[in-house]
Amino acid sequence: MRFLLLSFLLASFLKAQTPYQLGKELYMQKGCYSCHGTKAEGMHRYPRLSNRAKGFLSYKLEQFRDKKTSTQQQEMMIPFALHLSDEDIDRLTTFLYEFKEDNLEEQYDDSFRTQGDGGS
Ligand code: HEC
Repeated sequence: MRFLLLSFLLASFLKAQTPYQLGKELYMQKGCYSCHGTKAEGMHRYPRLSNRAKGFLSYKLEQFRDKKTSTQQQEMMIPFALHLSDEDIDRLTTFLYEFKEDNLEEQYDDSFRTQGDGGS
């Protein structure tokens, strides 16, 4: 019994996936980024979704899933919300509400150096 508990703890530690990470994967996998942007920043007439109230976002997704829309523009969302489970919606909205930009500092070194002969 103790062994089982230990291996369970170990397994969950090794592939710890937070709801945020799961939501991020869903956001990419379901193609939400193609309209709302890879940073959920919104594009053209597609609204920004990052850091907005989780309750509101969930409410909207549930409405779209039930095919309830208030404008023609919103009908575009129905096919994308139709197959979302409650759990999917929870993960997606956790990701969107808590959204923060990935730290890209390690990839780009854009520091400016003043040493050198300045090319003269
Ligand atoms: C084909 C483009 C498209 C894709 C893909 C798409 N959306 Fe949307 N989304 C829209 C449009 C259009 C609206 C409605 C904007 C309006 O109210 O005028 C919308 C609205 C929303 C809203 C309500 C925001 C608000 O301010 O009312 C949420 C939440 C949302 N989308 C989440 C998602 C999620 C999550 C996905 C992926 C599962 C997704 N969308 C995929 C086009 C898209």
